[in-house]
Amino acid sequence: MSIAPPYRYIGQSILRREGREKVTGASRYVDDNVIPDCLHGKTIRSTIAKGRIVDISFGEGIPWDEFIIATAKDLPRNVVVLIEQDQPALVEEFVQHKHEPILLLAHKDAGLLEDAARAITITYEEDKSAAFEIGEGSLQKEYLIEEGDIEKTFAECDVVFEEVYRTGAQEHVYIEPNGFVGWWDGDNIHLRGSHQCPYYVHKAVKTAFGLKDDRQVDILQETTGGAFGGKEDFPSTVAIHTALLARKAGRPVRMIYDRAEDMACSTKRHPSETRLRIGCTKDGKLKALDCDFRIDGGAYITLSPVVLSRGILHGSGPYKWEAARLVGKSYATNSPPYGAFRGFGAPQSLFAIESAMSALAEKLGMCPVEFRRKNFLKKGDVLPTGQALEGDPMLDAIVDKGLQMADYWNRAKKIAPIPNRGIGLSVFLHGTGFTGSGEVYLASRVALATRGDGKVEVRVSSTEMGQGTETIFPQIAAEVLGLEVDDVLFVKPQTSKVPNSGPTVASRTCSVVGRLVERAAHDLKGKLNGTPIADYHATHGETLGEAKYQAPPGLYWDDEKYRGSAYGAYSWGINIAEVTIDPVTMHPTVENFWGVYDIGTVINPTLAKGQVEGGIAQGIGWATCENVVLEEGAMINTHMTNYIIPTTMDAPPIMVDFIENPYEYGGFGSKGVGEIPMDGPGPAVLNAVSMALRRPLNKIPIIAEELLDD
Ligand code: MOS
Repeated sequence: MSIAPPYRYIGQSILRREGREKVTGASRYVDDNVIPDCLHGKTIRSTIAKGRIVDISFGEGIPWDEFIIATAKDLPRNVVVLIEQDQPALVEEFVQHKHEPILLLAHKDAGLLEDAARAITITYEEDKSAAFEIGEGSLQKEYLIEEGDIEKTFAECDVVFEEVYRTGAQEHVYIEPNGFVGWWDGDNIHLRGSHQCPYYVHKAVKTAFGLKDDRQVDILQETTGGAFGGKEDFPSTVAIHTALLARKAGRPVRMIYDRAEDMACSTKRHPSETRLRIGCTKDGKLKALDCDFRIDGGAYITLSPVVLSRGILHGSGPYKWEAARLVGKSYATNSPPYGAFRGFGAPQSLFAIESAMSALAEKLGMCPVEFRRKNFLKKGDVLPTGQALEGDPMLDAIVDKGLQMADYWNRAKKIAPIPNRGIGLSVFLHGTGFTGSGEVYLASRVALATRGDGKVEVRVSSTEMGQGTETIFPQIAAEVLGLEVDDVLFVKPQTSKVPNSGPTVASRTCSVVGRLVERAAHDLKGKLNGTPIADYHATHGETLGEAKYQAPPGLYWDDEKYRGSAYGAYSWGINIAEVTIDPVTMHPTVENFWGVYDIGTVINPTLAKGQVEGGIAQGIGWATCENVVLEEGAMINTHMTNYIIPTTMDAPPIMVDFIENPYEYGGFGSKGVGEIPMDGPGPAVLNAVSMALRRPLNKIPIIAEELLDD
């Protein structure tokens, strides 16, 4: 169906659509909404991690009758619907984690609102049985992937390597904190906010208020300065709170979090613990993998089962195993729920396997590159789920290009004898789109609509959050329709105006939704039958090109047995990190970083590179300086002065290149790009630091003080 290259727009670095308004400050973020007669909303939260509310008292000196006060009793259905329905929007009686929302206040004076919040005293009967460590709490979810006879295969191995790898939580630090503004007109609610999945918010609000008709809820996405998974599920709670206060007040309400509240209360990357046992021959042929992958899910289910699933599905790395067993366990604790963060479990499990691969190569006395090469997946090889790889992963070509870019052999030789310097690598994969039957259940739809002025509108619920949705979809549609790219407009996602093209997650936008945009463009092209759009529109009125998701042929997944094709396509990559350790402070500095990726067809090289560079910086941060300090399960370093992310001054030179191995069923051959940049830096940096210190490490973030103590 695709148009054959050479292309007019595909592969061109078209300027970012919303770039000018962002750099000039013209973009309107949620906090820029000026709404007359609007109240400020505030959330009163638990100060304990587990227990029962005994009393709530409203102190003196506050004109309480001027305040709107809402509790769980005011909600028709007190639930934040996601995968499960276990999370209340407001605590009724039992608190399950620190900072859990208990009641809501609104007032027109934001200052008085703060005074009032301080005048509220909640008395608890604290339950001292709270759990905060992985493995302590009850099991939320468990998955098993098994292929081959694992114990028999281990018995045949010359070498068995065992290690436990740990990763810390990570805060998204998107540009603007969570926020919504909302108002009711009659029985209809209008909400505008910062989020990445308008239809998730739509469903959660509709359910909580027991609304019958989809049209009663309208969710608009304001300019969103980054989300990274952090605005996947959490905004639903903020939206319900805003709507509840607005309903009780009979006036518009704005709820804009400040940074500290956002960091303390919102979701984070799941901390993980991976127990690995790897068996191989003495000449480095991998045979058996036993992976026990555990995450802290937090107090409610939220997205943890899906994160867990993606974790074990990536935990075997880009290697061929004779036998593999991957067990995933998510534990319920009394931490605020952990959630989506770029990579969604894969960075955690890939950190373990890729750190182990370098440590095992060292143990075998082999070069980490040649050891990996010996075991790479090839076309037709079978993954632990039983999926035979249809495409060629081209791992040798990717690795060759990465090594060449980094001048790896010369650099490694030069660095090797120097104390406190190291070079490390990682090779990894990332599945495109929702796991298993996920895309079938989503049944995403997109539409392209003609306009009287001869232009075409792209109508999708896929959001722009800095990654390029607004730019690449017009490129795809213009390519098919033969239009000027500027004549394809992107409509601001708003549930009353756009069909549900699914959530903007899971590296699915360019490949999966882009494919739908491509198909919808062909649909429209067929209808136009060569007639110019303005003429056709004048005769027939608004005409839609439409497409609905269809699974690629032969894609089969068994949710019960956890077997089949978890993903229709995989992206692949190599990372190389060069580090220096300060001999006095032990602080690791990443000096240079290289990455080569196969993300299928690169639709917009500048945007793709930008997305990859950002992900690498985020991955380096996770590995080195981003230390979420937890107290009773909740983050306490809730400021950008004590939770340090890499700035442009901290980030090393990052060199990025691509190998294009197109995927037949992705938009113009594209595969997932959003998350794979996060997968490689953790282990590449750890392996480089291990080389520099001449001892294997097993945990990120790498904290200088801890290295000094050892
Ligand atoms: Mo993403 S971490 O799939 O929002």
